[in-house]
Amino acid sequence: MKVIPAPQGLPLLGNTLQVPAHAPALHFEEVAKRYDEGIFQLELVGRRVVFVYDPDLVAEVSDETRFYKGIDPPLSTVRDFAGDGLFTARHDEPVWGHAHRILMPAFSQRSMKAYFPQMLEVAEQLTESWAGRQGQDLPVTDDMTRLTLDTISLTGFGYRFRSFDSPELHPFLLAMGGALTEAMLRLQQLPIVTRLRRKQEVAYRDDISVMQELVDDVIRRRRAEGGGAKDLLGLMLEASDPQTGERLSDENIRNQVLTFLIAGHETTSGLLSFALYNLLRDPHALARAYDEVDRLLPGDEPPTYETIMKLEVIPRILEETLRVWSPIPAYGVNAYEDTTIGGYPVPKNQKIVVLLPSLHHHPKAWERPEEFDIDRWLPENKKKHHPAAYKPFGNGERACIGRQFALTEARLALAMILRRFAVSDPAVYRMEIKQTLTLKPDGFTIRVRERRPHE
Ligand code: HEM
Repeated sequence: MKVIPAPQGLPLLGNTLQVPAHAPALHFEEVAKRYDEGIFQLELVGRRVVFVYDPDLVAEVSDETRFYKGIDPPLSTVRDFAGDGLFTARHDEPVWGHAHRILMPAFSQRSMKAYFPQMLEVAEQLTESWAGRQGQDLPVTDDMTRLTLDTISLTGFGYRFRSFDSPELHPFLLAMGGALTEAMLRLQQLPIVTRLRRKQEVAYRDDISVMQELVDDVIRRRRAEGGGAKDLLGLMLEASDPQTGERLSDENIRNQVLTFLIAGHETTSGLLSFALYNLLRDPHALARAYDEVDRLLPGDEPPTYETIMKLEVIPRILEETLRVWSPIPAYGVNAYEDTTIGGYPVPKNQKIVVLLPSLHHHPKAWERPEEFDIDRWLPENKKKHHPAAYKPFGNGERACIGRQFALTEARLALAMILRRFAVSDPAVYRMEIKQTLTLKPDGFTIRVRERRPHE
């Protein structure tokens, strides 16, 4: 029987102390570089965790008859505040199926078209805000977060954060950042250590209360004001599961609203920030993007949904960005039964983590993996990709429900930015990753100047 390679650890503590608390994903990526086998295992806080990144092994663990999404750390900690919402629901909880079927219509192409005017409204707030700050250093990640948070809350719940009205980030975001960071830190803590960190526990509980109060306000307003029957909140309050007739409980709706407020903006903000970073390092791709927006969006008319769907270069920039810098660096599955992966034995319920940065750069699947090359995503090249080498949105029925939402929103935002502004990076930013379970560039600023007079 083959043995899964593993770096040497310490007695009792295993590999726990080798993982830097604030950047676990980057560490796992470094470890992966040492093992050509495309698989390794670590002993973390008494738990054995297997990491896979060879595309053939990822193809195996993508088989949903053999592997399920398990809610282990860090997701079991996120469950403290997201409860049985879609992201953190256990695979055997019937409520996942009820909510999934109730909410699927809210993610159809038709729904994307219905959300478009609101997506546009928020994208215009971003470009107006930048037009007023030409020549200044613009905090890209914060502004992308304002854009994506306001977009999901307006389209999903009819709720306005008005993030562009304030120089400070909304308290919800600070609380969320605190709670997600704590969930990441607890990945490496023995339960006794977590219990002893009293101050952090109090701060963590406070952060959760801030988020839940906001969620209660969102739901209260909708109940008082009505409207938005077809948006996410409307469906959750009114619709029943087409298969079982089941309605969602108030408690579950609360969990779903919080889940969508987090999952619905955090990653798209990372995608847009990384996309601008990549474009500033690839003048050729940037020139092609400018050409495309000038051709499809001449003049100052607001773009229509149909025009945004005609874009080709910008979607390729987004796909390649998600390969090179996946905002979610990993997702986990567990084995239903004792089994093998590529001949390596894996016991029942073993946690297996798909390591996206290493998969998305695996030489078996990608030529010149370090190079940002948007032509990988031309239809004729896409066909040649290894079927399991690209998983930025996860896998199977637990894959991202918001994929089309994120891509529509990101296409529109990038098109609106590039149509109006010449972007530059006079500070020549060097990538520094900030990790709070998701990845984002830290301290990345750009400058903009209007490309043509705006009426
Ligand atoms: C699930 C990535 C945007 C809502 C996931 C998963 C990934 C992912 C990898 C699977 C996680 C796992 O298996 O544990 C992304 C990326 C995004 C994005 C890269 C943007 C570029 C969004 C948006 C929404 C959303 C905009 C909502 C509007 C969700 C939900 C789940 C999920 C609810 C859980 C699905 C389920 O298990 O039923 N996402 N996501 N995501 N995502 Fe996204």
